Amino acid sequence: MSGAGEGGDESAVSSTGGHAPAPSATDGHAPALPAIDGDESALLTRAGHDPSFTLTDGSERAPATEAEDELPYSEKAGDEPASAPNAENESALAAQAGDDPVPAHHRRIRSFVTRAGRTSPAQQRARDTLGDRYVVPYVDRPLDYSRLFGREAPVVLEIGFGMGAATAEIAEAHRDVDFLGIEVHSPGVGALLKLVGESELTNLRIVEHDAVEVIERMIAPTSLAGVLVWFPDPWHKARHNKRRLIQPAFVSMLAGKLKADGFIHLATDWEEYAVQMLDVLGNETGLLNRAEGFGSAENGLLTRPVTKFEKRGKRLGHGVWDLVFGRQVR
Ligand SMILES: C[S@@+](CC[C@H](N)C(=O)[O-])C[C@H]1O[C@@H](n2cnc3c(N)ncnc32)[C@H](O)[C@@H]1O
Repeated sequence: MSGAGEGGDESAVSSTGGHAPAPSATDGHAPALPAIDGDESALLTRAGHDPSFTLTDGSERAPATEAEDELPYSEKAGDEPASAPNAENESALAAQAGDDPVPAHHRRIRSFVTRAGRTSPAQQRARDTLGDRYVVPYVDRPLDYSRLFGREAPVVLEIGFGMGAATAEIAEAHRDVDFLGIEVHSPGVGALLKLVGESELTNLRIVEHDAVEVIERMIAPTSLAGVLVWFPDPWHKARHNKRRLIQPAFVSMLAGKLKADGFIHLATDWEEYAVQMLDVLGNETGLLNRAEGFGSAENGLLTRPVTKFEKRGKRLGHGVWDLVFGRQVR
C-alpha cells in the first residue's frame, strides 16, 4: 500500500480547506514550460523517484507477460495499461489470496492488476524531466487545487487515463480547465508526461495511485467540475465483476465530490457493463441523468475524444455507450 506523502512539501495539500496564496519561485527543471512555483516543485519531488511511492499494495503485482489477455481488452503486456486479468494475473490473484496475511474480509478489492510494464526511453526521459513537476504524490489530505495549479479554474478529474492521448487532447483543447489524471500503469504515466512536454501543457497533473484511495483522501467534497471514467476495465467474467470500478459505493463517493453543477461522464464498449453503469448511476440519489438513458460523447464542458480503448472496442465490433449525469443537490 502506498504510504502518505511524508517528506515532500505538501503545500498544495490543504489541511484547513482554505486556499493559500500561490507561491512564486521557480525550479527551472523544464524551461520550455511556464515557471511553476517553488512550493509546488517541492511538493512534487517524491513521485516517480521515491521507491516508497509504490503504485499498489504489491500483493496484486503480477509479472510482465507476453501472453495475450483472454478478455476483449487484450493486448500484449508491457506498453499497455493493465486492463483485465490474463491467466498469469489470475494465478497471481489466487496466490495472493492464499499468502496474504490480511484476512480476506479486510482486503479491499481493487479494480486493477498492475504488471511490470515497459517504459520506453522517451517515456523515462519525460518522467525524469517532468515527473517531479507534474506527478503529485499520494497523500491522505485534500489537495488545494489553487496551489497545485497556481490559479483558480474548474478542475476535472480523469480516472484511468491509460496511455493518456485523450487526456492530453482535452487538456490542450481546454486550457481554461485544470485536469487531474489518475492512473496506476507506470508506462502510461510516462506516456502522458511525454505528451505534456510536447504540448507544453500546464493545466494537467497526475496522481499515480489507486483512484479509489485518491478520491477518498485527496479530493475535497463538492470541489470538482467533472469526473471522467472512459472505458474502465470491464472485468467481464462473473467472478471478476466485483472488481469493476463503477459500483454504488464508489459512485456515491464520486457524487459527493462534485460541485453543484458538476458532472460524471462514463463511457464503455462493454454492453453489459454499460447497463450496470446506467443502473448504478440511475439509483444514486445524488446524481441526475442529463439524457434519457444513454447519452453522447458531449458532457457540456467538453467532447470526449476517441480513446485508445474505444478504437480497440470498435475493432472488435463492440458498440460504445456514453453516460453523462449531473450532480443533484438533495
Ligand atoms: C481499459 S483502460 C482505458 C484507458 C483509457 N481511458 C482509454 O480509454 O484508452 C483502463 C485503465 O484504468 C486504469 N485503472 C483501473 N483501475 C484503476 C484505479 N483504481 N486507479 C487508477 N487507475 C486505474 C488501468 O490501469 C487502465 O490503464
